[in-house]
Amino acid sequence: CLTPELLHQYSLDNKIAVIVDILRATSCMVTGLAHGVKEIVPVSTLEECLALQSQGYLAAAERDGSRAEGFDMGNSPFEYMKERVVGKKVAVTTTNGTLTLNKSLDAKEILIGAFLNIAALTEYLKLQEEDIIIVCAGWKGKFNLEDTLFAGALCHALKNDFEFACDAPLAAEAMYLTAKNDMASYMKNSAHAKRLGKLNVIDDIEFCIQESIYDVIPVLYGESLVPLRQ
Ligand code: MLT
Repeated sequence: CLTPELLHQYSLDNKIAVIVDILRATSCMVTGLAHGVKEIVPVSTLEECLALQSQGYLAAAERDGSRAEGFDMGNSPFEYMKERVVGKKVAVTTTNGTLTLNKSLDAKEILIGAFLNIAALTEYLKLQEEDIIIVCAGWKGKFNLEDTLFAGALCHALKNDFEFACDAPLAAEAMYLTAKNDMASYMKNSAHAKRLGKLNVIDDIEFCIQESIYDVIPVLYGESLVPLRQ
């Protein structure tokens, strides 16, 4: 359970990295692939996203919670459910989530985690031998509530199959067990939930905290996220 800034303290070699940005990048990636997006290319800059748009990709860009000017989509999971995305290649850049993914490229395997696919992700991870690092996107280098809640939920689900390498999973698990019976109320304290509230996207928060509504596990294959084939 790390934020990107701590990644340099750990080697990702031969490890599985689970990237999480509950509000909303990884929730969008899971939703998009579940609703027929062909592949998703996560890029770190607006310029890279525009370049792929010129090659025919649907371009999704968010900065500080809002859709960036001049792009086809923002970063709401509801945009990834529309007919227009079916069969399409999507290039995406977000404030934290895509940056975090691109800082984790040394990992043996990069998977996308969200509450939306947590059961499928758990079952897959239980069968793996490699160490797992949960990389929480946070907000601009800072800890955030929602990503750590997810990390706690995943650690709780995997605790009988893996050993915790430090106390962070224990803390995250304790936080999740405190919050799990009323996540919506607990999430109201999150800085990003308040930020999104001001942008009138409360529905996104309620959608992104639902557990296990999709079975798809996005995996990075080359530069693209595609559904994991098991
Ligand atoms: C992020 O990358 O920090 C989030 O996805 C931002 C958002 O979608 O509001």
